[in-house]
Amino acid sequence: MIYKSLIFKSLLSVILLSLSLSAFAEISLDSGKNLFKTKCATCHNKGMKAASTGPALGGVVERWSDYPESDLYAWIRNSAALISTGHPRANEIFNEYDKSAMTAFPELTDDDVASLLAYIDGVYTGVYPPRKAGDVGADSGATAKQGLGAWVYWLLLGVLGLFAFILSRVIGNLNYLAAEKEGRPYQKKTIFETLTNKSVVSFILFGLVVLGAYTAASNAINLGRQQGYAPDQPIKFSHATHAGEHKIDCQYCHDGARRSKHAVIPATNTCINCHSAIKYGSTYGNAELTKIYASTGYLPKGTGTYIEGYEDMSLEEKKEIYTGWMLENAIENDEKFEKVTEDLLEKIDQEWGEVVVSLTNDQKSTLGGPIEWTRVHNLPDHVYFNHAQHVTVGGLECQDCHGAVEEMDVVAQYAPLSMGWCINCHRETKVQFTNNDYYNKSYEKYHAEIASGARDGVTVEDIGGLECQKCHY
Ligand code: HEC
Ligand code: HEC
Ligand code: HEC
Ligand code: HEC
Ligand code: HEC
Ligand code: HEC
Repeated sequence: MIYKSLIFKSLLSVILLSLSLSAFAEISLDSGKNLFKTKCATCHNKGMKAASTGPALGGVVERWSDYPESDLYAWIRNSAALISTGHPRANEIFNEYDKSAMTAFPELTDDDVASLLAYIDGVYTGVYPPRKAGDVGADSGATAKQGLGAWVYWLLLGVLGLFAFILSRVIGNLNYLAAEKEGRPYQKKTIFETLTNKSVVSFILFGLVVLGAYTAASNAINLGRQQGYAPDQPIKFSHATHAGEHKIDCQYCHDGARRSKHAVIPATNTCINCHSAIKYGSTYGNAELTKIYASTGYLPKGTGTYIEGYEDMSLEEKKEIYTGWMLENAIENDEKFEKVTEDLLEKIDQEWGEVVVSLTNDQKSTLGGPIEWTRVHNLPDHVYFNHAQHVTVGGLECQDCHGAVEEMDVVAQYAPLSMGWCINCHRETKVQFTNNDYYNKSYEKYHAEIASGARDGVTVEDIGGLECQKCHY
């Protein structure tokens, strides 16, 4: 009966391990991020490195490492309760922050708090959000799972290894029992013998070689590249709304594209051209549009004014002006709100919190100044790329290189931006001579050849588009 109990034991351990695996999967950086945004971001800086109303949360687990982990959990659920027990760390930080109260969150489960702490640590150490080639699309759900992914794979590998080991022991025991029954001698293998078995060793070696080659190759190919990169932006600006639904021309905002090297990200004034009139959004109400105004001190009340002395105002003064206006704006524009209620006040307080979080960062603790959009496309410094050359002279569409931006809520990098990508297009694309007369004169030889039927067109390659120094400084 030895083998029955062995089989039972190995099955049990596999089941237990997979159970713990699924429990593990409940903790996700992504849900941590959502929780942080909705519950903590009004008081704690989202960069995790600078203090705001509450302290910077980066490294908080270490600061609490003298106490059981459950103390930190208890703090996050109800800090006042922990302070009243006389807990040293709780009282220290409470006094350091002039006894300001942190909101209680009794509704948070253990998994919620673990997700929050994992997210805080991820942002602090720079591993979240992961910037990986291939995570196409704006859905940050996909990206957060990758952070966890590596862990899960290692764990699975461990489980499989353990399983293989247990099975080999089971087989060994079965062989032993069979031999005993038939009365033939059988030398039971020791653990060491099983592990150093020739086929086990060669299998492990083979696995390592394949894994090594795969990682080396994919790292080399993707070095510095990030096709599909779609970072969150400080304002939920949607190209699908502006360039798609409302058909605003790309060059209304990116007016550099036709005349200069850079396409240029529009200044806030360009936004205000329209949003001095469109001041309450159909999707986010006050929340997103107020960021535009608060970044420049524009108050869209009545005919609209720039607030005098805005730069020197304190955050509190700015808050008073804008939350007051947001209240009027909501009542005026949203039929859901007829008068000032507790709920509305709370909603506006929360929205203001989001404005502050989006417009400040480690370097900037107060509002004001240009909106800091996160750059999506980025060629290395040694490459020269010029928009006007391609858009005006080459007659290319934005979409040839950027994909269907007019359908994107969050811009994602569509092309690989590799050297091969530039070169391929230069090999295949015919030059449009009609666009520039002066330029055309220098290629009379080609015109003659086309006229005589000796060639059917001139590619960018023919005019020198593959020469190294054209693209490299
Ligand atoms: C209303 C503002 C506010 C909100 C919302 C808030 N906190 Fe706090 N938090 C504080 C303040 C202020 C402190 C400093 C201690 C004190 O004065 O109570 C603090 C301290 C902490 C500490 C202790 C830091 C240390 O170094 O010991 C942790 C951890 C913490 N907060 C986590 C969170 C988490 C997680 C959330 C969201 C679930 C959150 N806080 C939401 C204001 C807030
Ligand atoms: C109303 C103004 C507006 C219009 C119209 C507009 N954009 Fe944009 N565009 C922006 C802003 C603001 C950003 C920066 C925020 C972001 O990345 O979403 C941006 C970012 C981009 C980026 C990414 C830049 C980077 O960081 O690498 C590309 C590419 C782009 N736009 C292409 C287009 C194309 C193509 C169109 C037309 C189909 C278009 N845009 C229309 C305002 C506009
Ligand atoms: C040519 C006019 C125009 C310009 C310029 C413009 N927008 Fe808009 N924007 C619109 C229209 C129209 C809407 C749709 C309003 C709605 O659905 O309520 C909109 C909606 C939005 C929304 C969504 C609001 C919501 O809650 O639904 C945001 C955010 C926004 N714009 C940001 C910007 C930013 C940032 C800029 C400058 C880079 C900008 N817009 C420039 C016309 C414009
Ligand atoms: C031939 C390919 C190509 C075409 C066509 C093209 N772009 Fe780009 N675009 C790029 C590349 C490559 C970059 C990255 C440039 C860098 O990092 O220096 C870029 C960057 C951008 C940026 C980021 C800011 C900047 O200027 O670096 C914006 C915005 C942008 N493009 C908008 C547009 C718009 C709008 C059009 C159409 C009018 C357009 N692009 C046409 C290849 C193209
Ligand atoms: C979608 C096609 C396409 C892509 C992708 C593309 N180009 Fe071009 N490129 C053109 C065309 C077409 C011209 C010719 C414009 C003209 O008529 O002078 C051109 C011209 C050029 C020139 C001027 C060449 C000369 O001999 O005058 C440079 C430099 C250049 N491209 C750099 C780049 C770089 C760098 C990249 C990649 C980051 C790139 N291009 C990607 C289509 C492309
Ligand atoms: C049409 C434009 C273009 C031409 C022509 C071109 N390159 Fe590049 N090259 C690029 C771009 C874009 C990159 C950046 C690729 C990346 O970031 O992955 C690059 C990168 C490189 C790198 C760095 C390695 C890397 O992958 O980042 C080297 C080295 C290089 N090029 C050499 C050359 C040489 C040598 C020539 C002439 C035979 C040449 N290039 C011609 C566009 C060009």
